[in-house]
Amino acid sequence: MLSNKTIILGITGSIAAYKAAEIASQLIQAGAKVNVIMTKEAIEFISPVTLRAITGRPVVTKMFDLASEFSIEHISLAKAADIVVIAPATANIIAKLAAGIADDMLCCTVLATKAPVLIAPAMETNMYNNPATQDNLSKLKARNFMIIAPATGRLASGKEGPGRLTDITDIIGSIRQVLGRGGDLAGKHILVTAGGTQEPIDPVRYISNRSSGKMGYALAEAARDRGAKVTLITAPTSFPEPVGVDVVKVGTAQEMRQTVENVTPQADALVMAAAVADYRPTKTAKDKIKKGEAGLTLELECTPDILGNVKGNFIKVGFAAESSNLVENAKQKLKQKGLALIVANDITATDSGFGADSNRVTIIDREGKVDSLPLMPKREVADKVLGMVAKLLPKPKSRRPNKL
Ligand code: CTP
Repeated sequence: MLSNKTIILGITGSIAAYKAAEIASQLIQAGAKVNVIMTKEAIEFISPVTLRAITGRPVVTKMFDLASEFSIEHISLAKAADIVVIAPATANIIAKLAAGIADDMLCCTVLATKAPVLIAPAMETNMYNNPATQDNLSKLKARNFMIIAPATGRLASGKEGPGRLTDITDIIGSIRQVLGRGGDLAGKHILVTAGGTQEPIDPVRYISNRSSGKMGYALAEAARDRGAKVTLITAPTSFPEPVGVDVVKVGTAQEMRQTVENVTPQADALVMAAAVADYRPTKTAKDKIKKGEAGLTLELECTPDILGNVKGNFIKVGFAAESSNLVENAKQKLKQKGLALIVANDITATDSGFGADSNRVTIIDREGKVDSLPLMPKREVADKVLGMVAKLLPKPKSRRPNKL
């Protein structure tokens, strides 16, 4: 998804400058072309040689470099860029950009570019909270710069507080989100569910299943990166919340049903990747059930079929976890639940499905067309499914990107 994209990575003089090497590395691995511009303060913290080796491209460190491949550097760099990312961004660069100062290559390039600019501040807490910095950030926001707020945690000074460069995953996620704004789901609201619901037996025990939530999270991120506004309703998983996605955390099937029904009136599509527990205990014990000699019999009742019952003017996509008669069972579920598409997977395969990074799925549509895909990363499966969803949704009159 980042192949064919040219990204300017601006690095400034923060202690977090070393993290820019990892950002560059991840962008390169995702297929992007990365042009690094370092301020003179940044090169005190990390060597341009490192960035040169990682990106395989010349690194710009000063205004006039006769050996450079770029003609009138800031103009040609600015023109070629799909996005400019400044990570880490110090209080100084933020102040200079807010004031429109053009005394180094990074400032000049930002002034010269028409590409979106993403800023990831990293500085000491008091500097970040200072009204001067906050005013400067507000000015940049008003000019459509995207600011990724710093994380709160331990700072180089030894103190705790806001100012740490935010998680690299969130920086990469934000880049993908910005670059995907004009995608085939621009202007659409996609609701995704993920994870295995948990049906409590008592305060410490529950009934659930082996779903990790990976497929649902991959769908949410892929929809975001195709320009959609995304709501992710998730049962408990071990994954961090994806950046740029509205996340609602639920526990039980009943909670998931309620939340799905609250969101679907605004949604264009519901992609139900959650593994909803089919049964729940008829009663939840208030106190922890004590171990007895005689064993324990639980009485179970069916949970609501969320996908089968939810109604409205949106496209429904279901998943079918099957251990036999894959296509036949999936077709039956598609019909019963009134779906536009169903994504079926064979849960007996050891290389795919629950917990795995890959999935081998068969996608069936309402006309009965069966598309059996090879084993592929869940993110690629997500893109296949969403590509089909995009085709089923009405085309917008104008593809206006969602607001960030
Ligand atoms: N689903 C749902 N509510 C439930 C059970 C399932 O919304 N109570 C959804 C799942 O999220 C999935 C689809 O229905 O998108 C099919 O789920 P699956 O577990 O394969 O099928 P079931 O309908 O539960 O049937 P069975 O377990 O008998 O195969």
